[in-house]
Amino acid sequence: MPAFQPVVLTTQRLQLRFINDGDVDSVHRLFTDPEALRYWSFAPWTDRSQAEETVRDTQAAYEDGSILTFAITLAGSGDMIGKCRLSKFSEQNRRSEIGYILDRAHWGKGYAKEALAALIGHAFGPLDLLRIEADVDPRNDASCKLLERLHFMHEGHLRQRWIVAGEVCDTAFYGLLRQDWEAAKVA
Ligand SMILES: CC(C)(COP(=O)(O)OP(=O)(O)OC[C@H]1O[C@@H](n2cnc3c(N)ncnc32)[C@H](O)[C@@H]1OP(=O)(O)O)[C@@H](O)C(=O)NCCC(=O)NCCS
Repeated sequence: MPAFQPVVLTTQRLQLRFINDGDVDSVHRLFTDPEALRYWSFAPWTDRSQAEETVRDTQAAYEDGSILTFAITLAGSGDMIGKCRLSKFSEQNRRSEIGYILDRAHWGKGYAKEALAALIGHAFGPLDLLRIEADVDPRNDASCKLLERLHFMHEGHLRQRWIVAGEVCDTAFYGLLRQDWEAAKVA
């Protein structure tokens, strides 16, 4: 994709904004929580330098158009409570993959659904995508439920797709088409 220019997505309770240098501690907190990382594609971080490197890589990815990441912040306080992103863009096929994580203190409040609905609206609106994919550990009930609430369809089960800290894991593959999203919003 072309370079991503900073944009803010606003919902009822949240603001989604670009990641900046001041987010290192929040990013570090997200990716050191073993419970939040239970079904992630890599093991929890052990060093703050991993957060510093990720923030640098995230900013470089805005420039080269490879990954579009948003910090999920509370509209009132501005506190960063999670992040979500679109990666693996295929311009030719107008598709991308969605990823997301919320600080555990903010689970169960509907924030993930609210944030992802804004990101999906951006993907099917200004970015003009036709399809969004998600690759989830089938045991990750909260994530599967979230995707289904957002009208993703479970499209398949891919066996032994990941090895995370020595554990072999399967994938539940989900897809959302723009036409499904628009039909669901109208319904
Ligand atoms: C996946 C993840 C983001 C889901 O977060 P979540 O808070 O469960 O998701 P939602 O925002 O949709 O919240 C839904 C829950 O909030 C409840 N809720 C409370 N207030 C709500 C409100 N105002 N609006 C909507 N839902 C509300 C819902 O009832 C629902 O609870 P339920 O699942 O018990 O029915 C979170 O579990 C997470 O960060 N996990 C770790 C990272 C991860 O695994 N990421 C995915 C990798 S594929």
